Amino acid sequence: MQAENGNKVKTLVFRVSEENFDSVLERASAIIKHGGTVAFPTETVYGLGADGLNPEAVLKIFEAKKRPPGNPLSLLVHSREDVERVSRNIPESAFRLMDVFWPGPLTIVLEKNDIVPDITSGRLKSIGVRMPDHKIPLELIKRAGTPLAAPSANLSGKPSPSLATHVISDLTGRIDAILDGGEAAIGLESTVIDMTIKPPVVLRPGAVSLEELENVIGKVRSGYKNGEAGNEPNLSEKKAGQKYGHYIPDTKVVLVEGEGKSVSEKLVKLLESYRSEGQKVGLLLSEETSKETATFLALQNLDPHECFLLGPREEPEVAARKLFEGLRKLDKKGLDVIVADGSFSRFGLGEALINRLREASSIKIVA
Ligand code: TXA
Ligand code: MG
Repeated sequence: MQAENGNKVKTLVFRVSEENFDSVLERASAIIKHGGTVAFPTETVYGLGADGLNPEAVLKIFEAKKRPPGNPLSLLVHSREDVERVSRNIPESAFRLMDVFWPGPLTIVLEKNDIVPDITSGRLKSIGVRMPDHKIPLELIKRAGTPLAAPSANLSGKPSPSLATHVISDLTGRIDAILDGGEAAIGLESTVIDMTIKPPVVLRPGAVSLEELENVIGKVRSGYKNGEAGNEPNLSEKKAGQKYGHYIPDTKVVLVEGEGKSVSEKLVKLLESYRSEGQKVGLLLSEETSKETATFLALQNLDPHECFLLGPREEPEVAARKLFEGLRKLDKKGLDVIVADGSFSRFGLGEALINRLREASSIKIVA
C-alpha cells in the first residue's frame, strides 16, 4: 500500500463543511478502522492519524512521513476512558492538568499500558497522550473507537503543517485521505510535559506555558534545548523524542535575536553582505523590523528577493500561526539563505515561537 514499493497510494482530499461533516467523518473513520492513514486539522497543527493500537497501521505513519523508527508517537484521545486504556499509574497531578488544559494543546507523557504497541511508543515505557480541542479529530477518534497515533502531518524534518495545502504537498500519494478543515488556530505543536518523573519536565514548549503548568501542579522543570538552556544529563530516555531534528527547511536559515532596532540594523548588514556575495536572500520578519529595515534598504537601493511578514513583535501568537507557512513559502523560492527575525516578545506563545525559530536555523546571531 505504501509508496515504498513504488506504488503510490491514492490520496482522497475532502474539504470538510457543516453539510458534509457527517459523511466525510464516516468515510474517514472507516479508513482508520481498516488500518489506513488520515490527515486532519487540530487546533495546534495538522496531524497524521492511524489506529494507535494497530502496529501495521502505525507502521504506515512511519513510512509515509519517512520518520526514523524509534521516534515515539503520541496518542490523541477522546475521553478519560481512552487515557486509562492506554496508560497506567496516572498521578493525581496529571488528572489536574487534564481538568484544566484539556481539550487543548498539552501532551501529557504517562506510563504506558501493554495495549500500546512498541512501535507506537518507540519502545519507551511511556506514551504521550493529548485530547485535541477540535471537533474533527474528536469525532474521528470517537467513530473509529480507538486512540489515534498522530504525529504532525509533514515529511519528517520539515516544518509542521498549519494548512491542508502543506499536507497535500508533503504527503499526497503516501496516505489514504486528507481532511481540509482550514488553518490551524495555534500553528505550533502542543506543549509536551513528562509526568513520569518528579518534578515533571517540559520536553517541548507550546501554547501552555511553564508558568501556567506550575500554577496547577507546582514545580515544573524545563527540559528542552533552547540554545543556551537544557542539556539535562539525566533525562536520556525522556529526551528520546528530541534527538531527531525538527522544523528544518531545505534552505539555510540564519536567526538574528535581540532587541527591536538592533535586530533591524544587523539584518541590514547581513543582507548587504549576502547580496555582495551574489546570494539570493529571503526575509522572515516582524512588522516593526520590516518597517525599520525598509528605510535602511531604500537608502541603499537594496531589496530582499522575498519577504514574509509574521506579525507584530508584541503579538507572538500571530507570528506563531504564520511561522510554518512562512518557512514553507520561502523554502520553495530557490533562495540561498533565509534570514529570520528573532525580535518577538517571549511572552505567551513567544517562548514556543523562539524555540521553533532556533530549531529551524543553522546559524544563530545575537544582535
Ligand atoms: O500538537 C501536537 O502535539 C501535534 C498534533 C498533531 O497533535 N502532534 C505532534 O506530534 O506534534 P509529533 O509526533 O510531531 O510530536 C510529539 C512529541 C515528539 O517530540 C515526541 O518525540 C514526543 O512528543 N513524545 C511522544 N511520546 C513521548 C514519550 N513517551 N517520551 C518523550 N517524548 C515523547
Ligand atoms: Mg512533528
